[in-house]
Amino acid sequence: MTRRAVITGWGRCVPPVALTNADLERLCDTSDEWIVARTGISERRISHVEGTDLAELAARRALACAGLGAADLDLILVATCTPELLCPSVAAMVQHRLGAVNAAAFDLNAACSGFVYATANVTGMVQSGFVERVLVIGVEKLHVAMDYRDRSTCILFGDGAGAVVYEATDSGAGVLSVDLGADGSKGGTMVLQAMGTRGDPYGGRTPEETRLHFEGQAVFKIAVQGIAGSATRALERAGLGADDVDIVIPHQANGRIIESAARRLGVDSERVFVNIGQLGNTAAASIPMAISDAVDSGRVNPDDVVVLTAFGGGVTWGSIVMQWGDRTEPVGTHEGELPPTDATVFDLLESNLDFYAPLHADEPPAT
Ligand SMILES: CC(C)(COP(=O)(O)OP(=O)(O)OC[C@H]1O[C@@H](n2cnc3c(N)ncnc32)[C@H](O)[C@@H]1OP(=O)(O)O)[C@@H](O)C(=O)NCCC(=O)NCCS
Repeated sequence: MTRRAVITGWGRCVPPVALTNADLERLCDTSDEWIVARTGISERRISHVEGTDLAELAARRALACAGLGAADLDLILVATCTPELLCPSVAAMVQHRLGAVNAAAFDLNAACSGFVYATANVTGMVQSGFVERVLVIGVEKLHVAMDYRDRSTCILFGDGAGAVVYEATDSGAGVLSVDLGADGSKGGTMVLQAMGTRGDPYGGRTPEETRLHFEGQAVFKIAVQGIAGSATRALERAGLGADDVDIVIPHQANGRIIESAARRLGVDSERVFVNIGQLGNTAAASIPMAISDAVDSGRVNPDDVVVLTAFGGGVTWGSIVMQWGDRTEPVGTHEGELPPTDATVFDLLESNLDFYAPLHADEPPAT
């Protein structure tokens, strides 16, 4: 039997403070109706703690779900494009907090495709016999890069974390095929500059350098083609077709991107999991959070053929075809929560709004 990586634990951490479409109407010239119709998003989360805190809690929940202790892990792999620190990595900080003393740890950045890239890495490491049990986390604190007076971008993105545990198995279940790709020539369509070394690293970042540069329409077109093509290739590699798919759990980029991509793929909407309405686009965190939601809401059954597919900055894309294992109930639960907060969303965004204000000095003040 082929040795494969199968998901045995899942968990997520959704920060408690929501930024609703009504809140956004107070910050820029937009409307709930426009946002819902064009994106499917009603609210997104603004984290009052660091992304590492979100990652840690999602990880504890996934470990309890798998019935494993931290010392059982061989590797912690974190997908993120908004790490709390570049070094030490988020993975290393989580390793320390969990007490995962036997685990190697590193971060990976493939933007919104990060979780799929991480899963591809784990698949190779499990198949080669290098690791047995791996924690993969997707986490983002994207609101830092949002200019909430720029309606073309700020409506889309949110904060959050999701985690899964992969274990080696020879049961026949697990990751069946992988497709990964990138086209760096289109990288200018989504740029997050401030985390890198480009420019003057000593002068402090300007608002223009810090906010996400995003060409929505261009990204939309590349994303629909990219996702459908990648998922089709991954299915072909697994020897399967669209009819064999029980559920597609896509990166939650935009409700319309997901619909168009599913149509191209030949999968009807009942077999596509969408939870973007309450969370927005959380980049590398979106697929592991969606896996958690899908399993907990009974949308995934034992032995199901599950397709994960994503598209993101770089540009990058990737798809995974897996057969779910024999368990959709958690072995255990972790009861911990994030530290509580009394802050309103406008309290949490105060320094953000001040920072980006100079870019809008000539515009009428927000209502
Ligand atoms: C950003 C996005 C929602 C914009 O939707 P769209 O249908 O392409 O909208 P357009 O950019 O064509 O804008 C249409 C009109 O709405 C306006 N508009 C843009 N944002 C708006 C907002 N938040 N509220 C109200 N009106 C808005 C535009 O100014 C434009 O007005 P005009 O016709 O008078 O010029 C969409 O392009 C998108 O989702 N792109 C990719 C999303 C994504 O998540 N990518 C990440 C992949 S990892």
